[in-house]
Amino acid sequence: LKMRVAIVGATGAVGHELLKVLEASTLQMDELQLYASPRSAGLKLPFAGRELTVRATPEGAIDADVILASAGGSISKEKAPAWVAGGAVVIDNSSAFRYDPEVPLVVPEVNGEAALHHKGIIANPNCTTAIAVVAVAPLHRAYGVKRMIVSTYQATSGAGQKGMEELLDQTRVALGGGDAGASVFAHPIPFNVIPHIDAFQDNGYTKEEMKVVWETRKIIGDESLQISCTAVRIPTLRTHSEAITLELERPATPEQARELLRQAAGVEVRDEPGAKLYPMPLTASGKYDVEVGRIRSSLVFGGGLDLFVAGDQLLKGAALNAVQIAEYLQENGALKARQKAEG
Ligand code: A2P
Repeated sequence: LKMRVAIVGATGAVGHELLKVLEASTLQMDELQLYASPRSAGLKLPFAGRELTVRATPEGAIDADVILASAGGSISKEKAPAWVAGGAVVIDNSSAFRYDPEVPLVVPEVNGEAALHHKGIIANPNCTTAIAVVAVAPLHRAYGVKRMIVSTYQATSGAGQKGMEELLDQTRVALGGGDAGASVFAHPIPFNVIPHIDAFQDNGYTKEEMKVVWETRKIIGDESLQISCTAVRIPTLRTHSEAITLELERPATPEQARELLRQAAGVEVRDEPGAKLYPMPLTASGKYDVEVGRIRSSLVFGGGLDLFVAGDQLLKGAALNAVQIAEYLQENGALKARQKAEG
């Protein structure tokens, strides 16, 4: 049985990647519908040698088996209940449902099985979290992570298409000697780093930082994990990088960690400092695997590890992970069962 897929937010930064990932995917799909805001209605986007027409997102249900939603939290919150009532499984890229205990939050390499227990909505994690857990979950299983400290270096496309445009436009302004302005970001982004992503919370952390705490625990399935994050926007176009320090229950050597991560799904160990090989946005962009390197023994936590990861957040942090969830559902017959039940 094939499935009918719809993308809501097809014209956005993640939507663009969804089209590319779907084109290369093994998903058995016999229809793809594209939706965005009414502004984009009629626009044609290339897909698999054809052109598909973008439609305005309707008020109510969408006649599809799977809806990949990537038009922001408010659209998801408003429309997902009607999509589910209409019989679709919604794979939602926004944060609207991630903390709902009824909604599985899924990275297929880590907790794919959770997707099978959905009640209509499956949440795709925050991009920074998705990239981190691909590397951290295998280490957690083998050595038990007790504490995790993360500092991020996040690309402008984390703020969508308009984030990338602001970086490019304002860099031109700055190079021309003008004062770079800011509208998407809190400050000018060219030649700057901004330790402020999403809203500040009462505890002094930003929402982006707390997403890493809440979502890592939910995906790994361990509420006792102690996590702290500093999330920083940097002037790159795509791929989030993260410096991660892990305190472990059972000591691990860098060589053991490398060996384990070489076997881990979704990871590329890129760790030969002598040959100048380590994770970077330049090499990780466009890649499905998350690059992991700079693995070394922590000087602070005995038996613990320091590492650096770089992952294309539009792919593993968003579009790729969403499509992998759909593939997982199809491979495990989770969609077939629904179609049969409908007769
Ligand atoms: P549009 O291009 O028509 O504005 P990004 O994250 O790159 O900013 O992309 C956001 C996506 O969400 C775009 O595809 C955008 O479509 C879509 N979108 C924005 N507002 C709405 C809306 N009211 N209804 C449906 N889609 C929307």
